Amino acid sequence: MDIKAKSGNILKEKSNAAVLTAFEGEKPSGLVAAADKATGGMVTRAIESGEFTGKTGETLLLHTAKALPGGPDRLLVVGLGKKDKCRPDGLMRAAGTAATSLRGIGAKDIAFAVIEACGNSVSGASMQIAQGAMLGLYGFDTFKSPDPKKKVVKRATLVVTNKADAGAAKEGVARGIALAESVCFARDMINAPANEMTPSVMAGRAKKMAREFGIKCKVLERDDCRKLGMGAFLGVASGSVQPPKFIIMEYNRAKGSKKPTVLVGKAITFDSGGISIKPVDGMEKMKYDMAGGAAVIATMRAAAALKLPVNLVGLVPASENLPSGSAYKPGDVVKAMNGKTVEIISTDAEGRMVLSDALCYAQRYKPEAVIDIATLTGACVIALGDLAIGLMGNNAKLIANIRDAGDSTMERLWELPMWDEYLERMKGDVSDLKNVGGRQAATVTAGKFLQEFVGDFPWAHLDIAGTAWEEKGQPYIPKGARGTGVRLLIEYLTRLK
Ligand code: BES
Ligand code: MN
Ligand code: ZN
Repeated sequence: MDIKAKSGNILKEKSNAAVLTAFEGEKPSGLVAAADKATGGMVTRAIESGEFTGKTGETLLLHTAKALPGGPDRLLVVGLGKKDKCRPDGLMRAAGTAATSLRGIGAKDIAFAVIEACGNSVSGASMQIAQGAMLGLYGFDTFKSPDPKKKVVKRATLVVTNKADAGAAKEGVARGIALAESVCFARDMINAPANEMTPSVMAGRAKKMAREFGIKCKVLERDDCRKLGMGAFLGVASGSVQPPKFIIMEYNRAKGSKKPTVLVGKAITFDSGGISIKPVDGMEKMKYDMAGGAAVIATMRAAAALKLPVNLVGLVPASENLPSGSAYKPGDVVKAMNGKTVEIISTDAEGRMVLSDALCYAQRYKPEAVIDIATLTGACVIALGDLAIGLMGNNAKLIANIRDAGDSTMERLWELPMWDEYLERMKGDVSDLKNVGGRQAATVTAGKFLQEFVGDFPWAHLDIAGTAWEEKGQPYIPKGARGTGVRLLIEYLTRLK
């Protein structure tokens, strides 16, 4: 889809459909009032009859070819809900709703009116509309036979009324495109089946992306990792014939010399549980156990595309977790890069194993902050559902900054306690640590386990087990991989001073 911004009168611009927005319970105003007038009161009558109330997600479609000659063939009015209850992503949702419903009726060329609603400036609103439309129209059909009747929106034009706003709108659209393309880049990796998205393929995607965006990228092989003493990471990888890949990306664009932020993403390209094998039901979903790693690779991409003035490192330990004659087993003891030994209680607690070595590696950079993101625990799904990312860490300021970025991107997080007593459950009998501390507070004990590998650096842990995958479909999140974390991390990085 080609997206542009311009100034003009949207009611006079030729398109298959023009999208306007309206708040619930308000009289038509601005462009909606103008459209109402031009159509001889069609909007007012729809409101009076109760057909359209302006509730979030509600739409009103009018055929306007006659009423607006030379302008849009149709008008689509999208509800934004009550004015004082507008969510920070209200315009993204409206744009997603509009774009998908117009695609459904075969519209190819659509126009969006840019309005400064829901706390947005012209540039912020433009960013949200471009992003919402692109993310809503995302589809993953790589593995489907081509459909000659497939409906696609070819063109979207964002229209601002004032000429003076055109520059801000263009800037917002460019940001929206950079972000949406990065989120879709993550979604493509996550949605891909595990036989196609092996650690080697993921490393290849990271390398290709890095080349395109001027990011440094190197990949450590099994032997390199062995020399570094990454016994925990290699333990997980030992069950698979697919070689593990430890992906390292570096992007330096901060002014002067600044310590980097290190992002660490879990990338288990398939989690069968290993010898502690998972039940049949839903195991196919465990292809998305690399969503944290995909988020890190995609965040590197977005940071470079947006030319953020930051120093950033991305570390992605990628492996399969499979049972075999060479697989690691319950009772095995492995040694991580920092010398700590871990007894395997469950081979299904593999995420913390691969992350532990990556967190040790992160210390090499003397980081400003370390943020890891992982589909780590089923317990997080039980605790927070698909609405909140589990947030833990050792630094109140870092945690608050990430939480704030989540509130404004609507990739929300909820903090869990990290009291020392929780670590007791993870202490080993024959080793320093064990990899499972029982059923109680399993999300927190996983976090406490990770903390043993971060040293004293400011660190935050994001458990996205419940938020990485969309079951139902939302205006700008089709079913499947959400691409969770990319918009959140970019917002966090953008606010860094
Ligand atoms: N990848 C899973 C966690 C998960 C579960 C992600 C559901 C997404 C949806 C992780 O590797 C795992 O298996 N965790 C175990 C840990 C347990 C053995 C301590 C879990 O949560 O059951
Ligand atoms: Mn597992
Ligand atoms: Zn896992």
